[in-house]
Amino acid sequence: MINLFDYETAAQGNLSEMLWGFYAGGAWDELTVRENRDAFARVWLRPHVLNDVSQRDLRTSVLGQPIAFPIAISPSAFHCLAHADGELGTARAATKLGTLMALSTFSNFSMEAVMEAVTEARREANQYAPAWFQLYPLKDRGLLRSLVERAHAAGYSAICVTVDTPFSGRRERDVRNPLRPPSNMALGNFSAEALKMDTSSLILYVTGQVDPAFSWQDIAWLRSMTPLPIVLKGVLRGDDATKAVEQGVAGLLVSNHGGRQLDGAVATLHALPDVVNAVQGRAEVYLDGGVRRGTDVLKALALGARCVFLGRPAVWGLAVAGEAGVRHILEMLRDELSLAMALAGCATLGDVDRSLITM
Ligand code: FNR
Repeated sequence: MINLFDYETAAQGNLSEMLWGFYAGGAWDELTVRENRDAFARVWLRPHVLNDVSQRDLRTSVLGQPIAFPIAISPSAFHCLAHADGELGTARAATKLGTLMALSTFSNFSMEAVMEAVTEARREANQYAPAWFQLYPLKDRGLLRSLVERAHAAGYSAICVTVDTPFSGRRERDVRNPLRPPSNMALGNFSAEALKMDTSSLILYVTGQVDPAFSWQDIAWLRSMTPLPIVLKGVLRGDDATKAVEQGVAGLLVSNHGGRQLDGAVATLHALPDVVNAVQGRAEVYLDGGVRRGTDVLKALALGARCVFLGRPAVWGLAVAGEAGVRHILEMLRDELSLAMALAGCATLGDVDRSLITM
């Protein structure tokens, strides 16, 4: 296994067609899934020469907290479908390497259990790495508030609100071959008992709970409810980014949900400059979608992202080797980034700027 694509192939071999369809799939014609990747191939690098690149420093920070390199894990649902380690494995792998994981609302393990794994991994690695909680805006505002309060109490450092999912995109692979989670699969952040239903109806209930009426005023309400910084995940336009900054949002994750929501939505790499321009340094900007190579990371950073996030690759790592697979995925991408920086004449992330890019 020498790159992320080797993991993709191996993961497909390890998973049922139903599960593979769920992970790999995108909305409708999957144009945006492909375009996220293709966009990286249409942006070219202008390397510097004769800079001393014998040592590279990949350390940076997100929202004021240190991470060892600018590659983090995007939230994705149901990690136990890929491997029994589930989100505990993903969180341990990221934390031990000193980077960030955002935990999905729809995790199999509870946010408290995942934070215990994070805390243990910090101790073991003798370094701090932050963890975020991803929030789907649920109709039940009491439930929403309790998730936010629990995330704060558990020790998560930010609430990452996913704003591109007023309804679930139509993923035709799932329509043809619907995901049927095992009936005993837990939805760690929700209690079937409290909601008086069995697990399978709980999953249907909660995924149907995302509120399509959630809007800008609700972001102000969220902010008033928690001292944690808010990151909006799924912003693709400069004007929306400006509104977000005006609402006091601390970070923007430029994302199209890995092409799983609006098919035909612009590739994240192409959306990035508009968002970066609008924000003017008033919030941090991150990117996910199709990041598979160190050079992809370098291009996103050069266009103004502070950090990139991986969605499917984390699941591939899990499906192949649990925690160790996620670790290997992150290590390979980190090392590719380090080499790409050296070859582009950049010793530190501070040397990575817009001048590296020609379109
Ligand atoms: C996701 N994504 C996602 N996003 C989110 O905010 N909450 C979630 O629960 C999920 N669940 C989820 C499940 C699966 C199987 C996938 C593939 C994706 C979207 C995810 O956070 C991210 O935006 C994309 O996956 C990034 O694109 P790549 O890296 O997969 O190309």
